[in-house]
Amino acid sequence: MFIFTYKIPFQNVDTTIEKLQFNDIFNVFYESPLEITTDEFGYGYLEKENVIIDLKVVFDGEKENLTSFESLVNSIIESEPINMVEENYTYEEPNFPAIHLDNKWVLASPDEDFPGKQKINFISQGAFGTGLHETTQDILRYILSKDFTNLNVLDIGTGSGILALATSIKNAKKICALDIRDVREEIEFNSSLNNINNIEVLVGDALNNEVNIEGKFHWIYINIGGEETEMFMDYINSHINENGKLLVSGLVEWSFDSIKEIVESKGYKIEEKIQTNEWCTAIFNKIN
Ligand SMILES: C[S@@+](CC[C@H](N)C(=O)[O-])C[C@H]1O[C@@H](n2cnc3c(N)ncnc32)[C@H](O)[C@@H]1O
Repeated sequence: MFIFTYKIPFQNVDTTIEKLQFNDIFNVFYESPLEITTDEFGYGYLEKENVIIDLKVVFDGEKENLTSFESLVNSIIESEPINMVEENYTYEEPNFPAIHLDNKWVLASPDEDFPGKQKINFISQGAFGTGLHETTQDILRYILSKDFTNLNVLDIGTGSGILALATSIKNAKKICALDIRDVREEIEFNSSLNNINNIEVLVGDALNNEVNIEGKFHWIYINIGGEETEMFMDYINSHINENGKLLVSGLVEWSFDSIKEIVESKGYKIEEKIQTNEWCTAIFNKIN
C-alpha cells in the first residue's frame, strides 16, 4: 500500500474528504489537531482551528495505476503531496508487557513465569483496565495487601474486571462487577485464566434501573472519575453495609478535595489516600 501526505487547512478537511469520496476514494485519514485541557474533574480536549494538517490518502491498488491515482487526487485536492511512502502492514497480536506491581505480585499472561512471585493471569481484550494506568496499579497494590475472606464486594465501572479478579484472589466471598459496557466476555475469560468462579458480571446503566443489584456489600469500589462518583453516591449508599468501606479512584489531584468533601457529606470518613503522579485514590469508612 502507498500513503500520500497532503498539507491542507483543517477547516477544509471535511469538504476535501467528501470530494475524494465522490471519486470513490475512501481510504483517507488524518490526526485531529487536539489540545489537551484540564477541567474540574480531569482532562478534556479542544480541537484547534486554523491549523494545517496532514491528510493521508491511501492507494491500495495495482502498482501500474499509482501515477494516475496520484494525478486524480492532486486534481481533487488542488495540490501535490509532500511525500509518498510504501507501507506493508502485518498484523501482530498486541503483546502487553508483564506489570510488576510490587516485589510480590505481577500481572501477566498465563504463559509467562516469574519464580518467587505470585501472578494474576491477565490477557486484555480491549476493555478499560489493562493495568497500565496509575489508578489501576495503586488499587491493585492496595487490594493485594488485604484479605477479603467472607466479604462481598461491588466493583462499579469494572472494565476488564481486573480489580474484581484481584479481590477474588484475595479470598472474597462474592464480587459483583458492574459496567455500562458489555464487558462480560472479557471478565469471564480472565476469570477462567485464574480458576475464578465467584465474579458476577452485570451490564447496564444501574442509575437508570437497567441493572438490579440485590443486597449490600462490605466493600464498594468506583474507579470512574469524580463526576461519576458524585452521581453514584446515593446508589452506593443504598448498597453499602453499615461500617462498609468505599474505595474511590480516578480522581485528579485538583478535584480531590472537593470529591472528598462530597463523599464525607454522605456519611463517610477518609481513612487513607494513595497518589501516583496526579492520580488519587481514597479509602473511606461508612460512619453513619
Ligand atoms: C477507568 S475504567 C476503570 C476500569 C477498572 N475498574 C480499573 O480500575 O482499571 C472506568 C470504567 O467505568 C465504566 N463506566 C463509565 N460510566 C459508567 C456507569 N455510569 N456505570 C457503570 N460503569 C461505567 C467504563 O465503561 C469503564 O469500563
